[in-house]
Amino acid sequence: MQYGNAWRHQRKTVQGLLNVTVVDTVMPIQNAETLQTLHHLLTEPEGYYDHFRRYSTAVILASVFGQREDRFESPKIRDLYDSLDHVTALLEPGATPPVDAFPFLRYLPGFMCSWKREVKDLRKIQQSMYYGLLNETKQKMQDGETDCFMARLIRQREKNKFDDEQLAYLGGTFMEAGSDTTASTLLTFVLALVKYPKVLEEAQREVDLVCGSDKSPSMEDFDKLPYISACISEVLRWRPIAPSGAPHVVIQDDTYEGYFIPKGTIVFANAWAIQRDEHEYEKPDEFHPERFLGNKFGTRYKVDEEKDFRRVTYAFGAGRRVCPGQHLAQNSLMISMAKLVWAFDITGDGTEVDTDMATAFTNGLVTAPHKFPVQFKPRSSEHAAVIEKEFELVGPFLQGFKV
Ligand code: HEM
Repeated sequence: MQYGNAWRHQRKTVQGLLNVTVVDTVMPIQNAETLQTLHHLLTEPEGYYDHFRRYSTAVILASVFGQREDRFESPKIRDLYDSLDHVTALLEPGATPPVDAFPFLRYLPGFMCSWKREVKDLRKIQQSMYYGLLNETKQKMQDGETDCFMARLIRQREKNKFDDEQLAYLGGTFMEAGSDTTASTLLTFVLALVKYPKVLEEAQREVDLVCGSDKSPSMEDFDKLPYISACISEVLRWRPIAPSGAPHVVIQDDTYEGYFIPKGTIVFANAWAIQRDEHEYEKPDEFHPERFLGNKFGTRYKVDEEKDFRRVTYAFGAGRRVCPGQHLAQNSLMISMAKLVWAFDITGDGTEVDTDMATAFTNGLVTAPHKFPVQFKPRSSEHAAVIEKEFELVGPFLQGFKV
């Protein structure tokens, strides 16, 4: 959606749902779904890739729609990832002609352009998914109380003047924007742990000091886990999931460092380049969370926060379109990464670990690591027993989200 009144109105609504205070109320869902993921990794470690993808979507399903799916193979989660694959394929450079630069291409008849048919097919898939979720939420509200983001939006629809299409697409945007982004970041973290075993050792040392082996880390422990927090900043710096950032259009003529940028130009804030600048970061290609300890920007120098409006990370974009889901995402990353390193020894298969962006990651605007060899071994029988016990304890809570 381009900048304008409609966008401003929706953005305000989205920010109201995703601000720091509100997203903290979703923490019990993230905690319980992470325990489900640990349980999946304990019982079916070979399916690790889809366990992380299920996790991020399950958090959105529960918080936005009050629903739950415990398997990646369930139609709601599968359909979402199929639709995301469709979007990614359409956004591949060269997959569609440059309609923004040559608007007349828009008027070519459908039989001449397969991309138009694909876009139409995608819209059908999205509409059936999004309207389905909206209607199920309405039904749940009729059957009794349900408190989820979508129920709140439906209750406020008069005030917000949202029609069904806007509501359906708002919910769908949450599903799409919050799923593979968070999952890819978690998978990248796992890849980094396989490549850099010392980071895993250090992370385990930190969670052990705080939790021992009697309980897994929880939200109350976050303040005592600066190394895990540094790992989040480092994974977002090292391999940002949208390396080139999102495309933005310049709404008025501008000049930047001597370059004239006419209104209508599409520009990218290149997170990849910003976060790998050797002048800013020491050995930028290395995964080195320590750079963020004692300096929240991870830079070679001390940032003067009064004068320099630098962000800790550019992985969420910057400016007025910066990701509104970043607090929800950070909580998801923190609880999952802390519990994961607490529970498992994570190793590869002894072969060279490929972390190269060109070969180990998918192409496209949003990237993810390809599947890679990895083993998850519970750190001890006590750790495995705690996972079983804590997962059992959250069972009744999770049951509350079943459709
Ligand atoms: C690690 C996880 C995530 C990453 C790295 C990420 C990254 C991004 C990036 C790079 C953008 C584009 C910003 C720009 O235009 O400059 C974006 C936009 C957006 N994100 Fe996220 N995101 C994540 C998780 C989430 C979650 C969990 C949600 C919501 C549930 C979410 C909702 C959105 C929305 C609604 C937008 C569009 C904002 C707009 O155009 O106004 N994201 N995100």
